[in-house]
Amino acid sequence: MSVPPVAQRADSTNQLSPELQLIAEITAGLNAQQKIISSKFFYDSVGSDLFDQICDLPEYYPYLTEMNMLPHIASDLSQSIVQPVELVEFGAGSLTKIRILLESIKMIKSVVPIDIAHSHLQRAADKLSADYPHVNVAPIFADFTQPVSLQNKGKNQDELVKLGFFPGSTIGNFNRDFALTFLQRLRKTLGDSGMLLIGVDTKKSLHTLHQAYNDSAGVTAKFNLNILRHVNHIAASNFDLDAFEHYAFYNPHFGRIEMHLVSKIEQSVHINGQSIPFAQGETIHTENSYKYRPDEFIHLARMAGWRLEQQWMASNDMFSVFLLHANR
Ligand SMILES: C[S@@+](CC[C@H](N)C(=O)[O-])C[C@H]1O[C@@H](n2cnc3c(N)ncnc32)[C@H](O)[C@@H]1O
Repeated sequence: MSVPPVAQRADSTNQLSPELQLIAEITAGLNAQQKIISSKFFYDSVGSDLFDQICDLPEYYPYLTEMNMLPHIASDLSQSIVQPVELVEFGAGSLTKIRILLESIKMIKSVVPIDIAHSHLQRAADKLSADYPHVNVAPIFADFTQPVSLQNKGKNQDELVKLGFFPGSTIGNFNRDFALTFLQRLRKTLGDSGMLLIGVDTKKSLHTLHQAYNDSAGVTAKFNLNILRHVNHIAASNFDLDAFEHYAFYNPHFGRIEMHLVSKIEQSVHINGQSIPFAQGETIHTENSYKYRPDEFIHLARMAGWRLEQQWMASNDMFSVFLLHANR
């Protein structure tokens, strides 16, 4: 299919529609010296389902470890949260973790799950609403890397204290500067009485880290490659998924796992009226997962204006969860 380049499709005010902005963002990333596609493009409905499969993998310890910690954390919070709260999850996915909190923390009166994967979130929110009819469920379909307004969402939202929830170490997908900006933004969004429950993956043995992102069943490889299928759908590009392969490694200099897609051959890919050349072995950087020592994360949270209220560590320091308060 031949599609006119984005530059020829702006409207009379020169504004790009949200769809064209996405195409422009993808094209700019592929023109960078280190080619990049943002990890937010993993999550079409196939990608969301593949992520759920990753969560079932024995090697993917971040999900399993945090899931094992949550009942205990929820029980602690059920004692300390004595006022009605609105739970706001950023990047809520299948809402599995929210359910564990709802089982224990009876003061959660309203849930606002935010996600970019529209149909996946709508299905999950409908199910949650059916299973917890006494809880108000008000999903927001938005890109959380942009400021998200909670205005007019949730029930009697002005009376409810906001409890932000950011599990799964999704904070690790941001570089340090943006992680700080994001935490500052959450502090503002959740307000002066707000709290934030956040799951953060820790630094650990190279072997454990490597296995987690290079599972033996090849599901993470499929998840990574699916980003090209999603981009083909959004931008009518012609990535051949068989011409790329998954590559994930720990970069000790940055303290992060990097996921890339490696071009198996010399090739050109057509997108947005351009031909993007790939040398054999050249990569597209698709995701970072920064790992934090607990003291590194606490320092970052403090710089963003949060106060540490409570901290939970999994055995062998495999994963950490923090409760932060906005009030000082
Ligand atoms: C790693 S999954 C975590 C899901 C869930 N919070 C958990 O911990 O199991 C990341 C989720 O964030 C969503 N997501 C990724 N980037 C996003 C963005 N920029 N804005 C909104 N949601 C995003 C994805 O669709 C996905 O559901």
